[in-house]
Amino acid sequence: MSDIVLDVRNLRVDFPTRRGILTAVDDVSLTIRKGEILGMVGESGAGKSMTGMAILGLLEPPGRIAAGSIHLSGDRIDQLSDREMQDVRGRRIGAIFQDPLTSLNPLFRVGDQLVETIRLHTDLTRAQARERAKALMREVGIPAVEERIDNYPHQFSGGMRQRIVIALALCAEPELIVADEPTTALDVSIQAQITALLKRLCRERGTAVMLVTHDMGVIAETADRVAVMYAGRLAEVGRVEDVVQRPRHPYTVGLMGSIPSLRSDAEELQMIPGAMPRLDAIPPGCAFNPRCAHAGPKCRQDVPRIDGPGAACWLAMEGATA
Ligand SMILES: Nc1ncnc2c1ncn2[C@@H]1O[C@H](COP(=O)(O)OP(=O)(O)OP(=O)(O)O)[C@@H](O)[C@H]1O
Ligand code: SF4
Ligand SMILES: [Mg+2]
Repeated sequence: MSDIVLDVRNLRVDFPTRRGILTAVDDVSLTIRKGEILGMVGESGAGKSMTGMAILGLLEPPGRIAAGSIHLSGDRIDQLSDREMQDVRGRRIGAIFQDPLTSLNPLFRVGDQLVETIRLHTDLTRAQARERAKALMREVGIPAVEERIDNYPHQFSGGMRQRIVIALALCAEPELIVADEPTTALDVSIQAQITALLKRLCRERGTAVMLVTHDMGVIAETADRVAVMYAGRLAEVGRVEDVVQRPRHPYTVGLMGSIPSLRSDAEELQMIPGAMPRLDAIPPGCAFNPRCAHAGPKCRQDVPRIDGPGAACWLAMEGATA
């Protein structure tokens, strides 16, 4: 049996507007295996969150999946009704967002929220579900669980709240977790703890994780594989150690140069001049060509694409850009 949990094929997400159709995700293909963490990285507006939201079935209209397919452990999920997708999100895919209060209801005690979610997905009695909730709270590192279980979300710090969200995301034992910037809103000092916790718990359970972040440092420490996005397209996909040590796409090379911890002190900080194009002004050919020092005529004409590991770059794929 295949251990591929998430299989995204040629996904396109469009936003129809009065001035035309904007393509926020353009021909993205990805897989994530059981127990694997795929990091999604790229600068603001690259399409990371839209890819995650499409998988979760949470695109806000008029945004829509315009092409491609999404399979979860072999089941196609991109054509389900809202109601069916709600069920998939509860049982089979967990979501963790930047703001823990997106997932927690401020009006209910955290224990009750965990118990409700556990009972929705298991046959446990209320008392048994409460024991499971306590065990999960301990597992995510909440101290004094006996007292804390009856607290409300606002009685916890941001980091503790995000730990509870992780418990909530895990309590239905989902196959996949989509975590979109789960630590961005937290103190820098606790960001690493939370990512390490997420990594450990998902590894233990064999949960597949899509970890969206703009921070290549987080990816380097946490993920097994990485997908670099640029202007809605995949720029590079590969094993983290390969992409970090030997980036092949000129954009990834620039991204690596911008992480202080990944540079040797002797090297200058490499900033990529220019900005990512707006969705209504993506140049023909390679979307990176106006910023690329290696751009040749082919780069301005033909879109380089990948549907597996590699770099979507004519130079990397063909060794030439002319
Ligand atoms: N309602 C909308 N209408 C039109 N375009 C939109 C809409 N929502 C998002 N977009 C566009 O979709 C593109 C992708 O956005 P997305 O949120 O996926 O970026 P991101 O990579 O997650 O960035 P960030 O790091 O800032 O979170 C952006 O260019 C954004 O402007
Ligand atoms: S395809 Fe051409 S423009 Fe694009 S990154 Fe490669 S060399 Fe640069
Ligand atoms: Mg985002």
